Amino acid sequence: MLKFEHKLRGNVALGINPLGCKQEVLNEIDYVKNKGTYFGPKKVLIIGASSSYGLATRISLAFGAGSDTIGVSFEKGPKSERNLGTAGWYNNIAFREAAEKEGLIAKNFVQDAFSHESKQEVIDYIKKDFGGKIDLVVYSLASGVRKDPNTGELYRSSIKAIGEPVVGPSINMEEQLYYTETLDYATEQEIADTVKVMGGEDWQLWMEALKDADVLADNVLTTNYSYLGTELNHPYYGGGTLGCAKADCDEKTEAINELLSDINGKAQIVVATAVTTKASAVIPFFPVYCIALYKVMTEQGTHETPIMHQDRIYREMIYGDRAEYDEMGRLRPDNWEINSDTQAKTKELIQKLNADNFNSEIAAYDILYKEFSILSGFLVENYVEQEVTIDELKELKY
Ligand code: NAI
Repeated sequence: MLKFEHKLRGNVALGINPLGCKQEVLNEIDYVKNKGTYFGPKKVLIIGASSSYGLATRISLAFGAGSDTIGVSFEKGPKSERNLGTAGWYNNIAFREAAEKEGLIAKNFVQDAFSHESKQEVIDYIKKDFGGKIDLVVYSLASGVRKDPNTGELYRSSIKAIGEPVVGPSINMEEQLYYTETLDYATEQEIADTVKVMGGEDWQLWMEALKDADVLADNVLTTNYSYLGTELNHPYYGGGTLGCAKADCDEKTEAINELLSDINGKAQIVVATAVTTKASAVIPFFPVYCIALYKVMTEQGTHETPIMHQDRIYREMIYGDRAEYDEMGRLRPDNWEINSDTQAKTKELIQKLNADNFNSEIAAYDILYKEFSILSGFLVENYVEQEVTIDELKELKY
């Protein structure tokens, strides 16, 4: 019988519980189903579909709006008892099984979304087997590396400040430690490389390839998730390398809107709220901001997990009548987070935090840790321990 161990290195999870991952997907499906159905897109492509925001989007659209979905992600399957693969691998499988039970198409592509071949394979599938053109393309990719599809050169993103280093408190979940961290500032090259990896270039390449292949429906919408934050995290996010990449996505909307104009399509930046994900847990200082923010938002009744946030975005905003946009036309579901009272209380709480109290009831370290554990299939609600062998896991098909 396999033993699942919740092992961490810093804020990176090393162990997974594949059965817990499955249960979490089922929990998220239940969350959406309990909200009832809504009118949404029929055919959806999600790039970065296997975890957190992309997965939550897929679950909301499939189980809320009855959408057929294609999900592209980069995950690893099980190799041995010591190497069970990645959580997203099992999320993809659990999603497909549940969606197919409801008669929905749920096609998974597990490959490098940045490559030309990947785009072509998805296009071929849409033409041959998907049964219709795409109404919605969701770009929810988060990666530390990107191979340029034309030159083969490998680019790495860096999470760094710009202009001067940032010093502040951080959290190490492996050691339950609150410590002072210094974040270096980026070189011009590092800024450019981060934009190359996390900016809008690949989003635009996907939209060009899909448009050229004539697989986009009239009125197609494409969404891309951004984060702006506030002065509390500006030095290391909005004003840092990641902020430059997000600004590049803003810029690319113009070119994509022009590309889609003859089919009446639209590119939409969605400024999403801060949530606990694999990608956000490794942003220096961010977990400290999160444990303060989550505490305040929980008290205000506005704290959301990815499934709550994405379901609200599509059900109530994009396909509902509660959309709120900013002066740049970006959708702003993060309004609850950036609300001035919420931010003032979060700031006040951050100032009170220290190594002795960060994991006490004055903040929400418990919420951060639980949400982080759930990403790897641990501390999942309704999970009942079961036996499974490595061979049974290897037999599962994505
Ligand atoms: P995540 O790490 O949970 O998910 C990333 C997804 O990208 C996974 O499905 C992964 O398999 C896929 N992926 C990575 N490299 C790939 C590749 N080469 N080919 C194919 N798939 C690949 O990340 P998360 O946090 O859900 O982020 C998604 C987007 O949401 C990002 O743009 C992020 O900046 C944005 N966002 C995140 C916020 C947060 O607090 N986590 C807040 C606001 C926006």
